[in-house]
Amino acid sequence: MSSPDLLIRGAQIILANGDLIVGNVLVRDRHIVEVGTEITCTQPTTEIDAEGLTLLPGVIDPQVHFREPGLEHKEDLFTATCACAKGGVTSFLEMPNTRPPTTNQQALDDKLQRAANKCLVNYGFFIGATKDNLPDLLTAAPTPGIKIFMGSMHGQLLLEQEEILEAIFAQGNRLIAVHAEDQQRINQRRQEFAGMIENVAVHSQIQDNLAALLATQKALKLSQKYQRRLHILHMSTAEEAQLLRQYKPTWVTAEVTPQHLFLDISAYEKIGTLAQMNPPLRSPEDNKALWQALHDGIVDFIATDHAPHTLEEKAQPYPHSPSGMPGVETSLPLMLTAAMEGRCTLAQVVKWMSTAVAQAYGIPNKGVIAPGYDADLVLVDLRAYRRVCREELLTKCGWSPFEGWNLTGWPVYTIVGGQIVYEKGKLHTQVRGQALTFKQ
Ligand code: DOR
Repeated sequence: MSSPDLLIRGAQIILANGDLIVGNVLVRDRHIVEVGTEITCTQPTTEIDAEGLTLLPGVIDPQVHFREPGLEHKEDLFTATCACAKGGVTSFLEMPNTRPPTTNQQALDDKLQRAANKCLVNYGFFIGATKDNLPDLLTAAPTPGIKIFMGSMHGQLLLEQEEILEAIFAQGNRLIAVHAEDQQRINQRRQEFAGMIENVAVHSQIQDNLAALLATQKALKLSQKYQRRLHILHMSTAEEAQLLRQYKPTWVTAEVTPQHLFLDISAYEKIGTLAQMNPPLRSPEDNKALWQALHDGIVDFIATDHAPHTLEEKAQPYPHSPSGMPGVETSLPLMLTAAMEGRCTLAQVVKWMSTAVAQAYGIPNKGVIAPGYDADLVLVDLRAYRRVCREELLTKCGWSPFEGWNLTGWPVYTIVGGQIVYEKGKLHTQVRGQALTFKQ
């Protein structure tokens, strides 16, 4: 038996062309069937009165670390996707640095199985490159692409050897997503700073702008040589933005995190190791260059790099404190608050957090509010401001680098495949997302 239709009535809707209308959206069997000012319902219908609220396509977060399997004390697929539902994130792409890492079909299948059982939103999982899993990289499916850690990693997922990188770029044609930090440069800087590591702020000096630039240059060169689809994850520096500004082949995309747009190195004084991530926070000038790059289409979209660690782990003194911050609950309000402050438009937020992500990864039928598209939607309130507070967070790690920030655009309803998964502070935990597919 199919479920009743869902009618979202009287919302401010952001259409595919960026226009805003006040109207209605009718959802039937997971899909949007009508968008308009006049909709006649012919079947039993559940209604949402959305007067005063704004309807956006659900956020597709293309870089998260959800820790399952193996690191569930930090997060798991259930807690992470409860946080997603609350944050308006209706789909995510997860990284392979779990235990075991996702480096073959078996590990990928295991994650897909776990996700089918536990995820409240839609899911996809990257396959991680090692020095000897090229056959897996060519065949494992479904996956949004191959993840290469060029630096800032240890164990089998760290790939810095040029010949191995080249072999991966040379074979196959699926998307390669790189964590671009040059490990040699980082090692050398660690030695230079030995004995001076009394403060976490040094993290941004050790893993400096040059470390990021060198790796991005290397990845770009290989991508050009083989015309290989390349995505630069969490781009963090003005220098990389400048590099792409000079030459960005059509088959290259880049993303930025809210942390690299809204936080800078002064955050270390306020929140210490909670501000530690890889690539590290940069200067206000870098923030500015990244905003400009987003506006100019040099950076294509936004990812949170949600990377939870417990407060106990974060309390260890640097360099023993782990890198990473959670993000799925705050990314949309942060960007919508920026839109309300005039730093960008609502249509740009939709493009950067949904439409462009679906396009870049070839995820069919997502990221747009139009008939025929999947009913992955979020209704936000742009009138009320509320502070980020630790007690309300659903991520298992229980903290945010943005605690105390006064934000608007908090989700009121989140809808996944036509089902309401989050409603005015309450989760519907029986809702399950689906495995994403990728047409590349
Ligand atoms: O800060 C980070 N933490 N950057 C990464 O690339 C990995 C992540 C993690 O898994 O903790």
